[in-house]
Amino acid sequence: MLNPRLNDLIDYPFDRLRALLDGHASQANVEPLAFSIGAPRHAPPAMVAEILAAESAGWGQYPPIDGTPEFIDAVSGWLSRRFNLPPGFVNGAAHVLAASGTREVLFMAGMLCVPETKNGKSPAVLIPNPFYQVYSGSALMNGAEAVFLPTGRETNFLPDLDSLTNDVLDRTVVFFLCTPSNPQGAVADLAYLKKAVELARAHDFLLAVDECYTEIYDRDPPPGALQACAELGGGFENVLVFHSLSKRSSVPGLRSGFVAGDPNLIAPLRRLRTFSAATVPRPVMAASAALWRDDEHVHVYRELYRANFQAADEILDGRYGYYRPPAGFFLWLDVGDGVEAALTLWRKAGLRVLPGEYLARQVDGVNPGRPFIRVALVHDLETTREGLARLRTVLG
Ligand SMILES: Cc1ncc(COP(=O)(O)O)c(C=O)c1O
Repeated sequence: MLNPRLNDLIDYPFDRLRALLDGHASQANVEPLAFSIGAPRHAPPAMVAEILAAESAGWGQYPPIDGTPEFIDAVSGWLSRRFNLPPGFVNGAAHVLAASGTREVLFMAGMLCVPETKNGKSPAVLIPNPFYQVYSGSALMNGAEAVFLPTGRETNFLPDLDSLTNDVLDRTVVFFLCTPSNPQGAVADLAYLKKAVELARAHDFLLAVDECYTEIYDRDPPPGALQACAELGGGFENVLVFHSLSKRSSVPGLRSGFVAGDPNLIAPLRRLRTFSAATVPRPVMAASAALWRDDEHVHVYRELYRANFQAADEILDGRYGYYRPPAGFFLWLDVGDGVEAALTLWRKAGLRVLPGEYLARQVDGVNPGRPFIRVALVHDLETTREGLARLRTVLG
């Protein structure tokens, strides 16, 4: 009765972490700290609760699948402002679709674009390795082969576009690119993005760019794929970008995001969502519109993350291959054996971190995430300092 493809889904990293740690009592006589989950812990902006209360009549109505005109307008304004797009380049509902967070629409990218065959061959979905697990779920459940691309230090933590062979590109249907990347915090520059867009057009696949960390940056705002499209001089052909309020506005529970780009993909995606997706409730849409219009609260959160990285600079002092990433809120630390380190940190210090191998797949006998742990710097400064101090004491 069950879809046999479900058997190929590897358990979600947090389930694997529970299986790893929960049988072991922490021997540390301290409050446990979770640095494993990549969800902001800062309080949401006060306007969220205020708007939800003021708009409560909206709970009594079905919301539109596309997003309210106010929401679409706020998103279009933010995209233009944030990515310096020419006036009118983003044309409202033709280019923008509301989503209940980015996870669902990232998954649907596979449903949207995976055919039975491409150029007579089995379809491939390109995925950076390590990666946000929904990409492989999307590939697998929609019948494509997931092709994992190395993203180590030697490739600046991004897939090496020059290494892609025509053989693979000709059967590629979706390329998931994450910039800033989870877990390494790497940022693709405009030249890289333009090259990726050109590849997508030359080989006719969807370039699905997950930009949900794009507002969490240290110094320079990371560029985006729509910006690359503008620089290339055409429209948004073959490109979709995925954005979320979860990280930007510290509201992972609001479940609010959007997808934007190629109108020839947005229209069928809207149709697909009509059959299968949760719509964003009207009060949530109103709060989201206000959040996309406001940059000030994002600036405040960025400062909090900067302070956390400052603490990491001091406390880790270059150990475990530490580098301060240009964006995102994760540390990607080389500790030799990530599973062993996660277990030791839990037992000896009550600290939960995520083994890197749970975020990656073994290719040619090697799991590139194996030496790493991912440490989420999402707490307040005091908690962050406490967690990092425990980490250093235990790992030495
Ligand atoms: C890289 C990446 N993409 C997408 C998401 C999904 O976020 P949301 O569904 O809350 O928008 C996450 C959440 O952790 C993520 O890390």
